[in-house]
Amino acid sequence: MRKKIVAGNWKMNLTLEEAITLSKELIQAEMAASPKHVQLILCPPFPFLSGVLSTIDGSKGFALGAQNCATEASGAFTGEVAAKMLKSVGASYVILGHSERRAMYHESDEVIVKKLNQVLSNGLQPIFCCGETLAERESNKHFEIIKNQLSNALFQLNQTEFEKVIIAYEPVWAIGTGVTASAAQAQEMHQFIRSVLAEKFGTAAAENCSLLYGGSCNAANAKELFSNADVDGGLIGGASLKAKDFLTIANSFS
Ligand code: PGA
Repeated sequence: MRKKIVAGNWKMNLTLEEAITLSKELIQAEMAASPKHVQLILCPPFPFLSGVLSTIDGSKGFALGAQNCATEASGAFTGEVAAKMLKSVGASYVILGHSERRAMYHESDEVIVKKLNQVLSNGLQPIFCCGETLAERESNKHFEIIKNQLSNALFQLNQTEFEKVIIAYEPVWAIGTGVTASAAQAQEMHQFIRSVLAEKFGTAAAENCSLLYGGSCNAANAKELFSNADVDGGLIGGASLKAKDFLTIANSFS
């Protein structure tokens, strides 16, 4: 059975103090209304990982994720953060291939594959993001684009490695825009992703893979999005910075 997951991508927001306050609010609210069978993942900026972990430690519902990692294992790479370091501070997940990194930091599929290898060889689970731009959707290329993103990166993994991967479908036109994909658009693409995965890794592995939706998912629309058969949760940006909204989203599974 695939896991239901709601992950908060805090991006480059908050100070340490604010990050700890948010984590505390989440823990308190979660104790009051614990979302059943949902894995919650908090992905704060690197400097806050340890602090957030000490706050959420011991709370069964929460796990820690990072937003990125280096392509290399260690060495003279000033400013980079290795997957092994993330593991050593208690992270369990790493977001990879986010469209902001693909677009603003020119991360190619090759770079993402190197990062996937680092994450997996250090016993972490990748949250692999894919998504098309508005122009690509409008020119009816969205299925082709997603298939390429999946095959150029994930098809480089072996079966055991693939089975650790979580996928987030995040249409670029929906990220941070307030324009979310409709429930039907999300379901259509998730179903397509699962069929692409099934061709390569088999039906059972595809069925077991958690497929998250991301892009202006919020407390008001999560229920409708999560009601789809192939939507197993969300990768939440803006709405993950408010404890109440994040927990409402986590409680949106029917
Ligand atoms: P958003 O971001 O929820 O603010 O649209 C989602 C993401 O980028 O992961």
